[in-house]
Amino acid sequence: MDNTRPIGLFDSGFGGLTVMKEVARHLPAENLIYFGDTAHLPYGNKSPETVLQYALENASFLLEKNIKILIIPCHTACCHALKALQEKLPIPVIGVTEPGIELLKQSTHSWRVAILGTTSTINSGIYQSLILQQNPKATLFPIACPLFVPLVEEGLFQHQAARLIAEHYLQTLKDKQIDSALLACTHYPLLRPILEETLGPTVTLIEPAEICALQARELLAKANLLNLQTQRPRYEFFASDDPDKFRRFGPLFFGSEIARVNRCAIL
Ligand code: DGL
Repeated sequence: MDNTRPIGLFDSGFGGLTVMKEVARHLPAENLIYFGDTAHLPYGNKSPETVLQYALENASFLLEKNIKILIIPCHTACCHALKALQEKLPIPVIGVTEPGIELLKQSTHSWRVAILGTTSTINSGIYQSLILQQNPKATLFPIACPLFVPLVEEGLFQHQAARLIAEHYLQTLKDKQIDSALLACTHYPLLRPILEETLGPTVTLIEPAEICALQARELLAKANLLNLQTQRPRYEFFASDDPDKFRRFGPLFFGSEIARVNRCAIL
């Protein structure tokens, strides 16, 4: 087994770069390949069957790149395809759902919890059932926030419009005494300041990016798959549409410049 093989990640677009950033931070010797399926973005309003089909195609693209594990930062894809990919692929597959639940368990005391996600994620009921498996007495407030993704994509995540939309989506939570809100979408971390302001200081926002990276590190260590190279790791980026837009917007999520994005022909 060649441990210098890359870790693969795919998302519907560039939002999953928030997870890649944590993977790069906690696994600084690993080579990484990221695929953003920008031609099919957003996944959040698509049917489960369509998202599953895209996810299978994305995974086979990355398998051809000889990845050693697959990380799926996209919550919508995890809800509809994680299980299928874990069963089907010859390599370990990690998603963000289970790390998110793990972090939530550490954060909540009252088990009065909001779940914020795309329409497809919320309708899947996956997060609801995973939380109820942990505590059948949990009181859940799942809220689909379909306008959050386009607001972030347009760079309006600090704009007054985002504040108004957040107030509109979250107003029903005002008297519910939740203590945690799970950010079950790759784009929502960019809205953190506005969400904190809207939900108030008593609500902890749960973002699974870092714990997902830590779980990947643990998995690689256990499987003896850690890359021990001392040279600089190689990062490769692919997008199924508009690589230039990816290169311009990607740094917002990744936190560093992206020198080159390759166009990949999945359509
Ligand atoms: N990546 C998606 C998610 O985390 C958000 C963007 C989309 O709708 O495709 O659910």
